[in-house]
Amino acid sequence: MASSSSVNSAIDRLANLQLNELSTSSSPNLQKNLSILSPHQIELGKMLLELGQGHLFEHWSDPGIDDDDKRSLLSQVSILDSSYPGGLSSYIKTARELLSDSKAGRNPFDGFTPSVPSGEVLTCGDDNFIKYEEVGVKQVQNAAFVLVAGGLGERLGYNGIKLALPMETTTGTCFLQHYIESILSLSEASCKQTEVECQRDVPLVIMTSDDTHDRTIQLLESNTYFGMKPSQVKLLKQEKVACLADNDARLALEPNNKYRIQTKPHGHGDVHALLYSSGLLKEWKDGGLRWVLFFQDTNGLLFKAIPAALGVSASKEYQVNSLTVPRKAKEAIGGITKLTHTDGREMVINVEYNQLDPLLRATGHPDGDSNCETGYSPYPGNINQLILELGPYIEELSKTGGAIKEFVNPKYKDSTKTEFKSSTRLECMMQDYPKTLPPSARVGFTVMEKWLAYSPVKNNPEDAAKVPNGNPYHSATSGEMAIYRANTMILQKAGVTVDAPVTQVFNGQEVEVWSRVVWKPKWAVTFADVKNKIKGINTVSQKSTLVIKGRNILIDGLSLDGALIVDSVDDAEVKVEGSVCNNGWIIESIDKDNTEFPEEVRIRGFRINKTEQLEQFYGEPGKFCLKP
Ligand code: UTP
Repeated sequence: MASSSSVNSAIDRLANLQLNELSTSSSPNLQKNLSILSPHQIELGKMLLELGQGHLFEHWSDPGIDDDDKRSLLSQVSILDSSYPGGLSSYIKTARELLSDSKAGRNPFDGFTPSVPSGEVLTCGDDNFIKYEEVGVKQVQNAAFVLVAGGLGERLGYNGIKLALPMETTTGTCFLQHYIESILSLSEASCKQTEVECQRDVPLVIMTSDDTHDRTIQLLESNTYFGMKPSQVKLLKQEKVACLADNDARLALEPNNKYRIQTKPHGHGDVHALLYSSGLLKEWKDGGLRWVLFFQDTNGLLFKAIPAALGVSASKEYQVNSLTVPRKAKEAIGGITKLTHTDGREMVINVEYNQLDPLLRATGHPDGDSNCETGYSPYPGNINQLILELGPYIEELSKTGGAIKEFVNPKYKDSTKTEFKSSTRLECMMQDYPKTLPPSARVGFTVMEKWLAYSPVKNNPEDAAKVPNGNPYHSATSGEMAIYRANTMILQKAGVTVDAPVTQVFNGQEVEVWSRVVWKPKWAVTFADVKNKIKGINTVSQKSTLVIKGRNILIDGLSLDGALIVDSVDDAEVKVEGSVCNNGWIIESIDKDNTEFPEEVRIRGFRINKTEQLEQFYGEPGKFCLKP
């Protein structure tokens, strides 16, 4: 029996012959074949052969094979080649190196010693927080926002795109609407605070993928861009990367199509190369922008943390500022860590939780990943929201082209590590950007309280219910409850008396249910805004719902026990006072398998029964008082 290498080289020879014939022969009966591939496609074919990918042509000599199949394979190769920095040859070279390291079990942290980097720890509502918010808001007019939203969302399993998912079901506002309205309100506040006429529209880039692109456009277009100018929003679509079948980095074909290379997402790290190659960074720099803020598709709390975090970036002149939350030792989120190599290299980087513990143990910390006197790990928890200073960012990307250090995570069939259970691919993460920065780069972090800054929606109800005790569910249920908790706690910090939450179980998850308090970003984008719009003595009971939609609404002496919804045109001023008491909007548990309810509701395990409310809209300019 022929060995697999001799079969491979025979395939290579066969394919080589065919491609060479195609490119050089003038024989009339090859004319047809000659015309089926463009010169560029022939070059790509030869490149693949040189890269040891002859198996891709294994079926090219089969009788009855369709020319369109050959062309479509090479068209796909052309896309894979042009969308990867350095092309396919670079992809395959890196893959071979990383696969070999993985097989040998090489530790990427060999030679590195971890220590705690420097950063700022903030507490919502105190003077320091308010000071940073003020600085941050001023900077917003110099910022661009980048939303990475190309992820498949396999763990959540929602049929729509995650950006279209309601962030909370009291108002039904979806994540994208909330993000856009927050950016618009922040940018307006920024210009107001600096008393300058807004010179430009704050740009928003959304990174999409084939899995999300069309539906993101549709969501924007069917909602008139949620109030943004269409020219303000740019979509950059990331391409998937080729899958790898074995340790030699041979490209994997799709199981049911011998003329299509299997592809999978490359990860959110693509955002850097896409931004760089789009030319947007240069355009922003030339336009006088200073900051780029990266955020994710389903963190409804993030914009509560952004103003102060941007203030930290500006005050401390951080080139890279990672937003973080306090992290309990061994909690399943990465820790921001300073790594110093014996050869002098230094970086401040996210170290995944399963790597942090062994790294600490191997470098003189026998307790490994453990809590310090604060009750938390000294390594703050990474939440993948980054603020980068544009100038140094462009400088760095002009060296790297935006390529981010990749990793590979093959699942081997057995301990010989010679075969994979299924194909793998290279991946890269947005937060690994600082890995290539010089030690002189100013890289820091900002710690925000978790209730204020982080509650993403990533897990489906079944998986969330299985999360070990004490770990966050990160489900649609917990994501919505986190919005109510944060808003109610902010009101509390602003002086409102609120009831304690009650504990309830939805979709097998025990959550705290606070009053359902929701406001539009135009009412308040900072803690200081909230404080300025709350006067006198106010109380909100646990069963209450308070929805504030208008811009100039002052809560001054309100006693709420029920549901109150206040809206107004921008130039109306409304003072809300007195006692509102009604049956309110009731949270009712539902069965997640009951298909009478839409998917958006089922994944939460509850619905809001709008029993009774006081709803007031002020449609004329002027001063009004809502006093029931
Ligand atoms: P997640 O960790 O939530 O991953 O990504 P995911 O791919 O969306 O979901 P799963 O793992 O399939 O369940 C964090 C952020 O990065 C974006 C996501 O859209 C989300 O905002 N992302 C992820 C991309 O933009 N591209 C990718 O290739 C992967």
